Amino acid sequence: MKDSTKCLHSGYKPENAGPGAMPIYQSTTFRYESTQAIADLFDLKTDTPFYSRLGNPTCGFVEQKIAALEGGVGAMLTSSGQAATLTAILTIAKAGDHILCSSTVYGGTFNLMAVTFKRMGIDVTFFEQSETDEQVEAKIKPNTKAIFGETLANPALTIFDIERFANIAHKHEIPLIIDNTFATPILCKPFDFGADIVVHSTTKYFDGHAVQVGGVVVDSGKFDWAKSSKFPEFVTPDESYHGLVYTQTFGKLAFIVKARVQIMRDLG
Ligand SMILES: Cc1ncc(COP(=O)(O)O)c(C=O)c1O
Repeated sequence: MKDSTKCLHSGYKPENAGPGAMPIYQSTTFRYESTQAIADLFDLKTDTPFYSRLGNPTCGFVEQKIAALEGGVGAMLTSSGQAATLTAILTIAKAGDHILCSSTVYGGTFNLMAVTFKRMGIDVTFFEQSETDEQVEAKIKPNTKAIFGETLANPALTIFDIERFANIAHKHEIPLIIDNTFATPILCKPFDFGADIVVHSTTKYFDGHAVQVGGVVVDSGKFDWAKSSKFPEFVTPDESYHGLVYTQTFGKLAFIVKARVQIMRDLG
């Protein structure tokens, strides 16, 4: 399928005699006939919808469509682009950690990085693309958890050299997160150039009609969270799921599952 076909047909596949247009499931909750079925959902043994904060069939169709367009293994919709960036970072960083961020990013992202993350105990250092690799690498610390950049920066429209910064990030065993809002996967697929995670404000071109605020986090499935020594939360038991280990149970989906079942569950 080419992109234009994926735009129409990825994500939602009508069942025999099912609606041709993707239906909107306007329900907070989903019914099950046994409490055991619900218990299995809470324990992540099954993954059908039960509460729309964590997953809703309509959102699921859109997530799969966007994941297909970006070439990722999974995606999660969020309430806004800001929420997507926040969720992506909080899935891999906590108080005491550090993020390296391009200085030419959307103003809201800049404030999140420069002011609000600091208040949460996550330190952020900015870099200019004009800096040499050595200068950028000198800013990476033992507690640095990601490099963040924007494909086409809002509003300067600076083009981010995804391949260059993916190489730097991977040399230091950390992922590259790209905000692909302005390019969209139609014009640029950051995973093809080595990015590990993509975020979007779907409020912009994905929406297209200026009526709906939203965001999405997309996982390439390529970053090896178990190989890097920097992400113990991915390889040690999560007490809130009776000791589940994300990389062991979910493999290539570890990041996007952790984003949903931990960060979306707790922060909404
Ligand atoms: C590149 C970029 N990223 C993120 C955002 C934040 O998205 P939202 O307004 O959907 O929270 C914006 C909003 O203008 C943006 O332009």
